[in-house]
Amino acid sequence: MHITHKASRLLLRRKTWFIGIFQATLVSCSLIVAWLLRFDFSLPYRRILVLGLPVLLLARIATMACFGLFRGWWRYVGVRDGLDVLKAVGAGSLLFWIAMRFAFKAIGFPRSIYLLEALLTAGLLVGVRLLSRALAESVQEDLSSNKRVILIGAGAAAQTILREIRRPSSGYVALGCLDDDRSKVGIRIHDVPVLGTVDNLPSLVTSQSADEVLIAVPSATGAQMSKFVSICNEAKVKFRTVPALKDIIAGQVTVSQLREVSLEDLLGRERVQIDLASVRRQIADRTALVTGAAGSIGSELCRQILHYGPARLICLDQSETGLFFLRLGLDGRSNGAEVTYRVGDICDSERLRSLLLEFRPEIIFHAAAYKHVPMMELNAHEAVKNNVLALVSVLSLAEEASCKSFVLISSDKAVNPTNIMGATKRIGELIISSRPTTGMRCVSVRFGNVLGSSGSVIPVLKEQLRNHHTLTITHPDIKRFFMVTAEAVELVLQAFAIGDHGDILVLDMGEPVRILDLARSLIRLSGKSEQDVEIRFTGLREGEKLKEELFYEHEKVLPTSCEKVKRTNGSLRDWSELCHQLEELRASMSVDGAEPVRAKIKEIVSEYTFQEVPATKRAGEVPAEVRMKKAAGHD
Ligand SMILES: NC(=O)c1ccc[n+]([C@@H]2O[C@H](COP(=O)([O-])OP(=O)(O)OC[C@H]3O[C@@H](n4cnc5c(N)ncnc54)[C@H](O)[C@@H]3O)[C@@H](O)[C@H]2O)c1
Repeated sequence: MHITHKASRLLLRRKTWFIGIFQATLVSCSLIVAWLLRFDFSLPYRRILVLGLPVLLLARIATMACFGLFRGWWRYVGVRDGLDVLKAVGAGSLLFWIAMRFAFKAIGFPRSIYLLEALLTAGLLVGVRLLSRALAESVQEDLSSNKRVILIGAGAAAQTILREIRRPSSGYVALGCLDDDRSKVGIRIHDVPVLGTVDNLPSLVTSQSADEVLIAVPSATGAQMSKFVSICNEAKVKFRTVPALKDIIAGQVTVSQLREVSLEDLLGRERVQIDLASVRRQIADRTALVTGAAGSIGSELCRQILHYGPARLICLDQSETGLFFLRLGLDGRSNGAEVTYRVGDICDSERLRSLLLEFRPEIIFHAAAYKHVPMMELNAHEAVKNNVLALVSVLSLAEEASCKSFVLISSDKAVNPTNIMGATKRIGELIISSRPTTGMRCVSVRFGNVLGSSGSVIPVLKEQLRNHHTLTITHPDIKRFFMVTAEAVELVLQAFAIGDHGDILVLDMGEPVRILDLARSLIRLSGKSEQDVEIRFTGLREGEKLKEELFYEHEKVLPTSCEKVKRTNGSLRDWSELCHQLEELRASMSVDGAEPVRAKIKEIVSEYTFQEVPATKRAGEVPAEVRMKKAAGHD
C-alpha cells in the first residue's frame, strides 16, 4: 500500500515536470513566432530576445502554477480550464511587462511583442488541451455503449457522481442535471449542463435519448422521492437513487452505491434525533436479553443494542433457523460484546429460569409474541398463552434474577382491540402498568406497523407483484401507521431510556397510510403502470379494523424529552384483581373453543369488541389457508 502510494507520487511528480517543460516550450515558441511576425519573418535584436526569454518563462511558469495549469487530465478539459488559461496568461503578461519595464528597462523590449506573444501562448495552451481531449475521446472506449444518464439534483451528491462518471470506463455518459432550484438552471457542473427543473424530465428523456435517471438527492423527503418516481414513470425511463443521507457512509456518495428506489424512500421522514448518550448510559457494559430476537423487531433491536456497547447480549428465540440467520447477520458486529444465542420457548418457565439465573440480564426487551391477527383469531388459546401468560411468568422470573429494566414491545392493535391478538397486547400493557415492582422498572412501547416485517403487507404485495399475480387488499380504505423498522427500534431504545415504571410510551408514527396507496407506489417502483396490474379487494378479515389508533380516548397524552415519543399511564389496575382475572383467563383455556377465552378477555379489556365466530369457523375446523387467502391487510 505504502509502496504504491510512493510510486504514484513519483509518477505524478514526473508528469508535472513533463507538462511544465512542454508548456515552457510552447511559451518559448510563442515568443519566437511573435518575433518573426513582428519583424517580417526575421530574428533581429537577438540579444534582447535571449535576455527576455528567461524572464518571460519565469513569469509564465509562476502564474501557470498559481492557476493550476500543471495538473494535466486534459482529456476532461472544459470551459473552466479555458478561463484558467486566460487568467494565467493575463497575469503572466502583466508580471512580464512589469519586470521588463522596471527591472530590465535598459533592454528595450519591443512593445507589440507583449501582446502578440500573449495571444499566441493563450492560443497554444488552449489548443493543446482541446487537441488532447479530442484525441483522448477518439481513442477512448466506445462511448456509444455507455449508459446515457440524466441526474436529478445538482448539489453535492450530483457533483460527486458526475466526477465519478467522468472517469474512464465508468460506463455512463452524463447528459445533464435537473434541479428544482431555478437559479441553478443553465449553469454547468463539471461541464455538464443543468438542463431544467425536474418537471422537464419527460421531454428531456425523449429529446436526449436518455437510458436512465440517477436520483442524486440524498436528503429527499418521502414526498419529494414520490414525485421523482412519478415523473420517471411518466417519462417511462429506468431510475435509481443514491442512498438516503442517513445511510451514506463517511459522507461520500459513489456510483456503486446507486440502488433501486425502495418503499422506505417514499415513506422516509426526517431523521429522528435521539439522545444517544442517555441510551448508551443505560446499555453500555450491561447484560441485555432480547426475547423474540430472531423476529423483525427483535433482530433490529439486537443490531442496535450492540451499537451501544453492552457487555453481553443474549438472543433468545424459539426459532432455531431464525437464530441461525440472526447469528449470520450479527457476525462481525458484536462491537466487543459477548453475544450468546439460545433456543428456548418463553412459555417454558423452567428453561427460562435457568437461562435468566445463568446470565442475570440487567435489561430485557420482550419482543417474543404471536402477532398475526387472522392466525390468532384461529388460535385464541395460543395467543393468550404466549402473549399474556408467558409475559406474567417472564416478568416474575426476571425480577427473581434481579433484572433492572423490562421493556414490553406492544402494538397499536392494543388500542380498542377488535381481535384476540390486539386484546392480548392490551392485557400485556395493563400487566406492565399495574404490576408492583421491587426494583425492576417496566415499560411498554406501543407503535404501529413497521415496513417489511415478516409476513406483513409489503412483503406479501411485493411477492404478488414479482409473480405477476393480482394484488389482494382487504379493503380500499384500509389504513395503517407505518414506520421504517430501524427508526421504530431507535425510538424503542429512546423510550426505554426515558420511561418511568408503568409507562406506556407511544411512538409518533406520523399520518396513517392507505394500503391501496402503498400498493400503487409498489407498482410504480416496479416500473409497471396501474393498468398492467390488477388490484382485488377481498373484504376485511375477522378482527381487522379499517383504521388503527395510537391512544385510547381516556388516555392522557404527555410529552417526553423526545419529541417523537409520547407518554401515557392511565392504565393502572388493581393488581390483585387483575391477577384474579388472569387466573380466570387461564382457567377458561381448559374449556374447548375460543368463546370462554374471548369472554374473559372482554372482562379484562372492556373496550375489546368481537363478532361471534360461527361454529363452522372455529379453531381446528377450517383450514387456516382457506381463511387467510394471503390477502394483504394490516400486519
Ligand atoms: N412487525 C410490526 O409491524 C410490529 C409493529 C408493532 C408492534 N409489533 C410487536 O412486536 C412484537 C414482535 O413483532 P415482530 O414483527 O418482530 O414479529 P416476528 O414474528 O417477526 O417475531 C417474533 C419472534 O418471536 C419469536 N417467538 C414467538 N413466540 C415465542 C416463544 N414462545 N418463545 C420464544 N420465542 C418466541 C418468534 O420465533 C419470532 O422470531 C410483537 O409483539 C408485535 O405485536 C410488531
